[in-house]
Amino acid sequence: MSADVTLRQMTLEDVPTVAEMDRISFSLPWPERSFRFEVTENDCSRCWVAEADGRIVGMLVLWVIVDEAHIATIAVHPDYRRQGMGEHILRETLKAARTDGAVRATLEVRAGNAAAQEMYRKFGFEVVGSRPRYYKDNNEDAILLTLQNLDHLE
Ligand SMILES: CC(C)(COP(=O)(O)OP(=O)(O)OC[C@H]1O[C@@H](n2cnc3c(N)ncnc32)[C@H](O)[C@@H]1OP(=O)(O)O)[C@@H](O)C(=O)NCCC(=O)NCCS
Repeated sequence: MSADVTLRQMTLEDVPTVAEMDRISFSLPWPERSFRFEVTENDCSRCWVAEADGRIVGMLVLWVIVDEAHIATIAVHPDYRRQGMGEHILRETLKAARTDGAVRATLEVRAGNAAAQEMYRKFGFEVVGSRPRYYKDNNEDAILLTLQNLDHLE
């Protein structure tokens, strides 16, 4: 990875910037209030931002539910993609979730999101199912992925 990156917990002050990055990354972005809820009210939520060059360049929200880490959202700013940032954020936040008691990770990804699917495949995520027409903007299917054993993360 070329940029020097710091991962830290998302704060309420970060939310407008995070929501802006979300809007340019997803066709169905979260409303700002969803990020605020995750940061302030959802006890099982772990909200992260990655900083480089003095700005927020990535974010991830995951939920630790008993022994499972569910990745709710992850995005890297377009200017910082294809530099290993997504992989770094995913690895480090899953390791933190493992410390929190998670033994496996799950997520949903759009059937047409080849970039994200390739990243997850590199981690060892496996397809465990699908939710037909899950995404309401274009009726795209969701693919369900699971990483069975977080022990293997280094
Ligand atoms: C998915 C996303 C987070 C990846 O972030 P990133 O920082 O670009 O990813 P990395 O540079 O760490 O790439 C990791 C691996 O993912 C795969 N990958 C990433 N972008 C890719 C692309 N455009 N095409 C093909 N493979 C890609 C590659 O296997 C890559 O490894 P490599 O560089 O050794 O080939 C980023 O593309 C993004 O924010 N997309 C929009 C939001 C999104 O789709 N989030 C996922 C929701 S499930």
